[in-house]
Amino acid sequence: MLLKTVSSSSSSALSLVNFHGVKKDVSPLLPSISSNLRVSSGKSGNLTFSFRASKSSTTDALSGVVFEPFKEVKKELDLVPTSSHLSLARQKYSDECEAAINEQINVEYNVSYVYHAMYAYFDRDNIALKGLAKFFKESSLEEREHAEKLMEYQNKRGGRVKLQSIVMPLSEFEHVDKGDALYGMELALSLEKLVNEKLLNLHSVASKNNDVHLADFIESEFLTEQVEAIKLISEYVAQLRRVGKGHGTWHFNQMLLEG
Ligand SMILES: [Fe+2]
Repeated sequence: MLLKTVSSSSSSALSLVNFHGVKKDVSPLLPSISSNLRVSSGKSGNLTFSFRASKSSTTDALSGVVFEPFKEVKKELDLVPTSSHLSLARQKYSDECEAAINEQINVEYNVSYVYHAMYAYFDRDNIALKGLAKFFKESSLEEREHAEKLMEYQNKRGGRVKLQSIVMPLSEFEHVDKGDALYGMELALSLEKLVNEKLLNLHSVASKNNDVHLADFIESEFLTEQVEAIKLISEYVAQLRRVGKGHGTWHFNQMLLEG
């Protein structure tokens, strides 16, 4: 005896069974099948069955895993601000991370300003170390680019860039014992280490706020470059300590100019 079900999406046809050409309602025989069951099919002996419950309006899944796209999207829609003064893109971006990015922008600008002052010093007619002037000018631009990259990131996350004051840098870099080139390079090394420390602080703020994207951004865009800059400037300091203040510094300057 072969039984086949006739399933339907209409509201009443739940379990019509084709029994030798005659359709019979077997629902009273199936008390254990919940009216909430959406689709069920299988085979038992010669009986093949396929049911579609239609009375159900709920979407609860037997597995406990429920995917309700429209309900879930609606929750997100509630998070989209209607005010034109608020960011539309902002999502899970804490005030603390936003403030920390603005602080880092200020750090980068301050360092850029000091390097710019060093460029102006070494470019003077009575100093004329053009290689060092070139190096510090490029370094200044690089720090400004870092500030701009952080600004772009701030906007990308829906934060607001707030620029703060920058400090007036030194204008004289002469040092009686070390000479200006070594003194300037040691100052650059200490600034790069300071920037690295500030970047690590920013990374820890991101981690504390579970901001995985910000942490990844700092790691991939800043930390490696910063470690490499510290290594390069450390080598320059070591070389300047070897060559002395006079003729040796001139050759070091030429190396930077040609490089
Ligand atoms: Fe930087």
